[in-house]
Amino acid sequence: MRQGYENKSTVNEIRDRFENDVERFSNHETGQSAAVDAADCLEMIANCAIQHAPEMKSVLDIGCGAGNFTLRILGKLKQNNVDVTLNDLSANMLERARQRVRKNTSGQITVLQDDIRDIELANDSYDAIVAAMVFHHLREDEQWDDVFASVYQSLKPGGALWIYDLVEHEKTVLHDHAWLQYSDYLVSFKGESYRDTVFDYIAKEDSPRPLMWQLERLLSAGFSSVDVLHKHSTCSAFCAFK
Ligand SMILES: C[S@@+](CC[C@H](N)C(=O)[O-])C[C@H]1O[C@@H](n2cnc3c(N)ncnc32)[C@H](O)[C@@H]1O
Repeated sequence: MRQGYENKSTVNEIRDRFENDVERFSNHETGQSAAVDAADCLEMIANCAIQHAPEMKSVLDIGCGAGNFTLRILGKLKQNNVDVTLNDLSANMLERARQRVRKNTSGQITVLQDDIRDIELANDSYDAIVAAMVFHHLREDEQWDDVFASVYQSLKPGGALWIYDLVEHEKTVLHDHAWLQYSDYLVSFKGESYRDTVFDYIAKEDSPRPLMWQLERLLSAGFSSVDVLHKHSTCSAFCAFK
């Protein structure tokens, strides 16, 4: 299942692909429909994030795309002055996210256009961090450990990390089962050729890790507890508390 990373897309290739894909990530009712249960996980994460931190003052959205997750969270809060930090590789995504988020908060908006692996986040800064469909672009173990450690440091004490992502499976039987379900989902959504296109770009671009592996790494990074909100086929929503 896991392969070497030498044939995977480079950071520049990933950035260039997303620069031209802003519209597909700009519907905050559906979320990213190519992912399993995207709309439900968007709603679930937003609900849990605001129930965990109803007075939140600061949010970081890693790989924010057009900002769907942050928008959904802001829309559920009573206060309208939350500071938002938007991170992405793509300038076009960030500009769309900034415009949409601006309409939903009078707080400070900070835009960080860079690879999350290269950003030095300030310590103890965020009440909530969201990372949706982005960590599967990380490659070697060290990159995951470094990013989880950096995210942990940047959360305020008691803050939470909310992840929705593509996940792999160690056991072949589970891998095959999950990808068959995903295939059925994509075919019923938009047909076989769409399924093939999605599978081709996942093969080229993504290097997801198993859910349990990530939960263990999050605990090793210092998080005091982790939990799973949802897992279906190849996609999962999960969280980690500082
Ligand atoms: C599949 S989209 C998801 C967007 C958004 N989180 C959502 O769920 O609607 C992944 C986003 O992550 C960004 N991205 C990919 N690798 C990244 C990295 N290493 N650092 C920061 N952003 C990254 C891409 O540019 C893209 O906008």
